[in-house]
Amino acid sequence: MNASENQWKVLPDEFLEVQLLARRTFGLDIKAGKEALVTARLNRRMRAIGVNEVRQYLRFVRGDATGRELLHLVDALTTNFTSFRREAAHFELLKTTIVDELRCTSEIRIWSAGCSSGEEPYSVLFELIEELGVDSASRVKILASDICGKVLEQARRAVYPLEKLKEMPVGWRRFLERGSGEWAGHFRVSKVWRNLVDFQRINLMEPLGQSARFNVIFCRNVMIYFDRATQEDLVRRLAECLMPGGWLLIGHSEGLSGLNSGLNYIQPATYRSPGGNTGR
Ligand SMILES: C[S@@+](CC[C@H](N)C(=O)[O-])C[C@H]1O[C@@H](n2cnc3c(N)ncnc32)[C@H](O)[C@@H]1O
Repeated sequence: MNASENQWKVLPDEFLEVQLLARRTFGLDIKAGKEALVTARLNRRMRAIGVNEVRQYLRFVRGDATGRELLHLVDALTTNFTSFRREAAHFELLKTTIVDELRCTSEIRIWSAGCSSGEEPYSVLFELIEELGVDSASRVKILASDICGKVLEQARRAVYPLEKLKEMPVGWRRFLERGSGEWAGHFRVSKVWRNLVDFQRINLMEPLGQSARFNVIFCRNVMIYFDRATQEDLVRRLAECLMPGGWLLIGHSEGLSGLNSGLNYIQPATYRSPGGNTGR
């Protein structure tokens, strides 16, 4: 153990074990040189449970037959940055081309895979309701999933600091309630809208288990942390979850070029399953 100012530095063999665990469990490709990041993330969790050696912590993770500590380790290592209407080009596409195609369908199925604290799926919902009207709410089905339990809890609670209002069009305020008392300085997505999003814990490294197909899948800024082979496998499995003509939207800094996805490139970060409009 190397301890300085209460920081326990991860040693090379410990770093290797974390790298292997992260890759095997949730696809995360931790590159050499990220020792300081891993140290900081592990230290937070170790302090919380009163363990002060990385080696001892890893032994604890291995020995926990319930798998619960492994999930805490995943929570500690994931990067969860997100915002409302992040990468706005996709939301422009959604409210124009995609909505036009889906206007007359009986059900609109959208999956936000790697939804973090909920800003992405709520943005999708608000954009759809703005364009299609409140009466269309019953035909909008949104699945939002993440591997990280901590962010899923935040997403279900849907309480955000007021400064996040800057990320949204003013018209979206009708979907929100302003907090008071202990929630002063925050807003919350109103219950009627919260209830329209189905939040589930899904590890994208495991079989996706979706029986119905989706019109649109958002899987943005998730694969950026995966190696090439893992990305290719995930894109292939996500493509199988799309309806013919369904859309796959990925992060603008993630490219599928050179990957054998079976999807057609439409524009940056935007792919489509062959076979016609999503609404057919
Ligand atoms: C940077 S956030 C992106 C959130 C949102 N999609 C966006 O673009 O703003 C990446 C999310 O992917 C999740 N994630 C990482 N690996 C995952 C996996 N194997 N299965 C499911 N979710 C995963 C993380 O927990 C994190 O919340």
